[in-house]
Amino acid sequence: MTDTMIVADNLSKVYEGGDTRQVAALRDLSLTIERGEFVAIVGPSGSGKSTLLNLIGAIDQPSAGSLVVDGAELAKIRGDALADFRRKTIGLVFQLFNLVPVLSAVENVKLPLIPYPPKGFNLDKRAKELLTQVGLAGRFNHLPSQLSGGEQQRVAIARALINRPDLILADEPTGNLDSKAGGELMALFEELHREQGVTIVMVTHDPNIAAHAGRVIELRDGRLAD
Ligand SMILES: Nc1ncnc2c1ncn2[C@@H]1O[C@H](COP(=O)(O)OP(=O)(O)OP(=O)(O)O)[C@@H](O)[C@H]1O
Ligand SMILES: [Mg+2]
Repeated sequence: MTDTMIVADNLSKVYEGGDTRQVAALRDLSLTIERGEFVAIVGPSGSGKSTLLNLIGAIDQPSAGSLVVDGAELAKIRGDALADFRRKTIGLVFQLFNLVPVLSAVENVKLPLIPYPPKGFNLDKRAKELLTQVGLAGRFNHLPSQLSGGEQQRVAIARALINRPDLILADEPTGNLDSKAGGELMALFEELHREQGVTIVMVTHDPNIAAHAGRVIELRDGRLAD
């Protein structure tokens, strides 16, 4: 295990959009994030924040440059192995919570591992423990529509944690929350970071939210702002 969680080396991403012009979303971006860091990525709309997060999460591939995450060079991992890597290492949290509306809170949390029943622990028990940890002990069987926005986001966090990820990638996780619910989510992130050593990379527009991170990285036009 290395001390470094993410090494991006001259990363570029060009989107080729049908008959529209090419868009250079990231330009020769290099950065290093250590294991156990809590980093906020900020910058204007369109500066490449989500693009960078999607590349780190192996949801999309760079046009040029290399990316090493948790010791693995992403370009060298293919197909099923990539899905395995994502499932073992990464927990993803989005602005829109992406919960399945017809499933209860506990079923939503279990969902990522349903196709891969874990051997080392009881999935149902772990899902309930996680919901309890995020303050939803009384909400196991509620549907997303029966939960507040902040509660739904906490279900999404519990779901992101079901695989015990070493790395949490969160894109505007407080974007749909009021300041109280946003503050509670940050308290939860700080606890995960401090007590479990989870590395957190969080995109946010909000300086008050970014202030919870140990380091703030600013993007501008697909590059690090100086
Ligand atoms: N799938 C895509 N196809 C073409 N262009 C894209 C695609 N996704 C993003 N872009 C473009 O790439 C640039 C960076 O987008 P990105 O989503 O990374 O920005 P962002 O910093 O996350 O912005 P926001 O704060 O608005 O979420 C933008 O100019 C955007 O229009
Ligand atoms: Mg974005």
